Parts: sequence; C-alpha cells; structure tokens
Amino acid sequence: MIIDPWGSQKYEYEKLFENFGIQKFDENTWKDLPSPPFFFRRKIVFGHRDFERIKHAIKRGDKWAILTGLMPSGKMHFGHKIVIDQVIYYQSIGAEIHIAVADIEAYATRGYTLEEAKRIAMEEYILNYIALGLKPCRIYFQSENEDVKDLAYLLAKKANWSQVAAIYGFGGATNMAHVFAPFIQTGDILHVQMEKYSGICPTLVPVGVDQDPHIRFCRDLADAHRLYSIVKQDGKTGIFVKGDENVKELLDEAEIVIREYGKILERKDDYKAIYAMVNDLFALDIKLAEIERKHGSYGFILPSSTYHRFISGLDGNKMSSSRPQYALFLSDTPEEAKKKIWAAKTGGAATAEEQRKHGGKPEECIIYELFTYGLIKEDKELQEIYEGCRGGKILCGECKKLANQLMTEFLMEMKEKREGARDIIKEYIS
Ligand code: TRP
Ligand code: SF4
Repeated sequence: MIIDPWGSQKYEYEKLFENFGIQKFDENTWKDLPSPPFFFRRKIVFGHRDFERIKHAIKRGDKWAILTGLMPSGKMHFGHKIVIDQVIYYQSIGAEIHIAVADIEAYATRGYTLEEAKRIAMEEYILNYIALGLKPCRIYFQSENEDVKDLAYLLAKKANWSQVAAIYGFGGATNMAHVFAPFIQTGDILHVQMEKYSGICPTLVPVGVDQDPHIRFCRDLADAHRLYSIVKQDGKTGIFVKGDENVKELLDEAEIVIREYGKILERKDDYKAIYAMVNDLFALDIKLAEIERKHGSYGFILPSSTYHRFISGLDGNKMSSSRPQYALFLSDTPEEAKKKIWAAKTGGAATAEEQRKHGGKPEECIIYELFTYGLIKEDKELQEIYEGCRGGKILCGECKKLANQLMTEFLMEMKEKREGARDIIKEYIS
C-alpha cells in the first residue's frame, strides 16, 4: 500500500494507523485545548504525528507556527474549506500562520503555468480564505520565495533517488520537476523555522491524509540534517552526536543545556553520547537545535502534522473539482448548490414508508456528512438529526430542505465577504 499525494484514492482510515504509524487524534489529544472546534469533536481530524509537541508549546505559551499549503487547481470546494477552518482556529489560539501557494507544484504536476496558478490562487482561494474569517497572516508563492527554493535544493543532498522513488512510486518517465515537488514542499515546511520567519519552533502542518508521504519525507530530511539525535530508552534519554566533527565541543555544549532540563547520568565520549534523565524533551530539543545553528547547521525541529478525513462528493466518491456535478463550490450560486443537493446520495430507505419503519443510515448519508462538516454548528442539533434519522422520525426531504437553507445562507454570506476581501488581500501576500 502506498499513499499517492497526486492520486484520487479513497482511504481505509483504520489501516493508516498500523501501516504508516500515524497516531490517533482523539478526545485525549484535544481535550486540554481551548474551545475544541467541531472538526476535533466530530472526528474529522483523526490522526497526527507529534502533536504533543504542539500542545506543549500551547500550554507553555511558547512560540509555534502553522504552515500549510494549497495547490491552486480548479475551484475551491467544501472539502478545501476544512483546512482553512483549522488554520483560523489555530490563528485564534496564537499560532504564527504561514500559507504556501503551491504554484510550482501545480506547474510540475498539473500542467498549469505559474501565471494561471497565481490567478486561481488570488481569485479563488485566498479571497475565500479571507471570507471564511482568516485574519491577516503570511501567504506566499513557492515560485517567488528564494528561501524555499534554496532550502529545497540544499536539503536534497541527504535524500537519494531510491528513497524518493520508493515513497512516491516515481519511475523512469516521471518528469524531474515533479520528482522535485516533494523537496519544494519540504522547503515550504521548514523555511518557517529560519530566523527571518518564525525561527526555531514547533511547526504544525494540518493536511489531508494524502499528504502524509510528504510529512514523513520532510521529517526524515529534517532529521538527517540534525547534528544531535535524542533516543529515549526505559525512562532514560540518550543524546548522541551523529557526525564525526566537533564531537567534544558538541558534547560539552549539550551537557550545559541538558543540566537545565534534567540530570546527567553518564557521558561517554567514545560513544559520542550523554545519558540523562530529562524532564522536558521538547524544550531540550529546541536548545540542541540552537546549538546546531551556532555550528552552521540547519537545526530544524521535526514538523508535526494532523490529518483530516476528506469530505465525500455528492455521489459518495471523493469530492473533487474535476467532477463539478458532485462537488459543492464556495462560489456556487444557491441555485446550483440546490440542484446538486437534491441529487445527492443519502442513507434513506427506498420508500418513505420503509424509512418511517426502519429508519435511515446517517453514516452513509452525504447530507448528514455536510451537516457534520460544519453546516450545522450545534452538536446537539446534529445529534437530534442523527437520532431522528435512525428512528425514522425525519425523512430525507426535510433534511435536504434544511441543507439547502443552510447552504444558501452560507453561500450568500461568502459572496458578500469575498467582495470585501478584495480590498484587504494585499495585507496577506508577501
Ligand atoms: N501538496 C499540497 C497539495 O497538493 C500543497 C502544499 C504545498 C502543501 N506545500 C505544502 C501542503 C506544504 C502542506 C504543507 O494540496
Ligand atoms: Fe440522511 Fe437525513 Fe435522509 Fe437520514 S433522513 S438519510 S440524515 S438525508
């Protein structure tokens, strides 16, 4: 099984935990966060890597950053909205926000010119982000950021062809700009930690689960450029110098910061190691990264990630701009949306009579899914629909009517806010 970020697979989410080591994102993960949003409570965000690091920063009031990206291809649909909902939430609880417009990726993998990609990003995506409530933050274009491109190239030194081919399934006919796209994405994710942006800090990348190969790749590449490695074994921690240069100096400097965060048990120069009891590994990691920078190295903290489930298209397959009849776009007119909603797949029974008797299946219903993805705000109301449906008390016609009404309100509001967004879009682009 491989995850193809450019494909259109449907996922068996359960398998992702075993096969790829994605961690479960459940109530224990989010319960301490300020006003947990609907995409946590309703299990839309279902997996993560290293989210504990982010929680640690939030709890201590330390600096942390969000970096996510959008590939400007086609129109923005309801499925794309969920990422921005997350960014807006994280912005409200203090993250520094960076958003990449993946124009190089759109060029390399989808056949757009950079000009087309730019136009789509500005006219479709960014206006909608602002309309959804994103406050001023940093949005940049891959093709215009020299730091991203330089990093992509320079970090690439520690990856080789076999590794990249194995992760992505690239073959002899893959164009080399496409092969390079994951490196650019790594540049996106890590450049945030350069001094002139957010500096060394935990970075969270909220994405759809199709992006996990990029996350793994980026974490491996960041790690490969670290000078220290931290290994935890039965409550003890080993801090190792990886290379053969400046070993004594690096151990000396590590010793000082380890003392700040714990107790040294033993230093073994011939193993290039210090063993210690450390009470705050995340904080120590940042201090070690700072030492690495003084030695001219990159010192990037491995990025954390969260993964959300994709919203289904109105026919039950993946929602995608390439199948417009089954996608709800943020720029649809209420009439267009209405038509599509009436034709949507539900979990209703064949006849009204049967449904009254046996109930419907909200788990298999696209209308119910739309409610879950934010059309209905109150959990209690959602729960009532769920139970009403299961008990045969409400029928699909009523639900569709409600969906139409809510969708119409939403689309009209978006339209109006997009107009206002034009005046302030400049505050976002850098
Ligand atoms: N590859 C992402 C997509 O297809 C877009 C993207 C580019 C991205 N750079 C990123 C996502 C960095 C997250 C982080 O949508
Ligand atoms: Fe879906 Fe509503 Fe029909 Fe139940 S009654 S299957 S929730 S549309």
